[in-house]
Amino acid sequence: MTASHDLLELAVDIAREAGELAARRREAGVSIAATKSAIADIVTEADREVEDLIRRRIADARPDDGFLGEESGAGESRSGITWVVDPIDGTVNYAYGIPAYAVSIAVVEGPPEPGEWTALAGVVFNPVSGELFRASRGEGAWLGDRRLAVNDPVSAAGALLATGFGYDPATHAGDLARLAKVMPLARDIRRMGAASLDLASVAAGRLDGYFERGLHPWDHAAGALLVQEADGLVGGIGGAPVGRAMTIAAGPDLFARLVSVIRE
Ligand code: IPD
Repeated sequence: MTASHDLLELAVDIAREAGELAARRREAGVSIAATKSAIADIVTEADREVEDLIRRRIADARPDDGFLGEESGAGESRSGITWVVDPIDGTVNYAYGIPAYAVSIAVVEGPPEPGEWTALAGVVFNPVSGELFRASRGEGAWLGDRRLAVNDPVSAAGALLATGFGYDPATHAGDLARLAKVMPLARDIRRMGAASLDLASVAAGRLDGYFERGLHPWDHAAGALLVQEADGLVGGIGGAPVGRAMTIAAGPDLFARLVSVIRE
């Protein structure tokens, strides 16, 4: 077994425990603990509690690893390995009871910057559907015992695409203009509300492609590895790495077409 595989096994165990805690808290009722950068950017008590659980489990098992989490910030790495964590991706769905949210955990090597790290393992777990998507470097992306592969090439009738809209109202006009540019490639559009699940869906062939501006590292770290291990491409415009400026994910043929219409 490779080191990546061992890290994946630990990430899977922690994601399951964390997802089950999130689902139990959801059953008991959710209240919004705070609004962050904008009115749509919320955090619930459960986000904090679930991140705390994940952080403690990692610290117990691998005390020298670093941590980069949505709610509690960064902890420095002494091993060269960092865990990049969104305890509840899709917090707005979670708060409204829409069953499309996920625990997203990636294990990366190198500087904790998306363009500079090498992702070793990634897990996206939706505790409501029970689906756990996982990948480790060089060993494929999997849902249960099904090996995942992106759609490539996509149907001539058009691509089923997903996107997301930034929380900051100042970015909405740009997001809508970009959507208008992409529409000629689309069979239809989805806005599901959890970037990690959008990326997992591209890996699983449930979506042909996905694009969004403004993502944070914890939104895409695990999902990007799923797409790459399903033989897809993930990146920004003009060879830029995935990041806040732009995240595009698809099979190679559609990826090139999305880059070309979005950069215009
Ligand atoms: C958000 C979701 C959403 C995306 C936002 C993310 P959060 O993550 O992934 O789909 O559009 O950009 O910030 O705040 O629910 O963890």
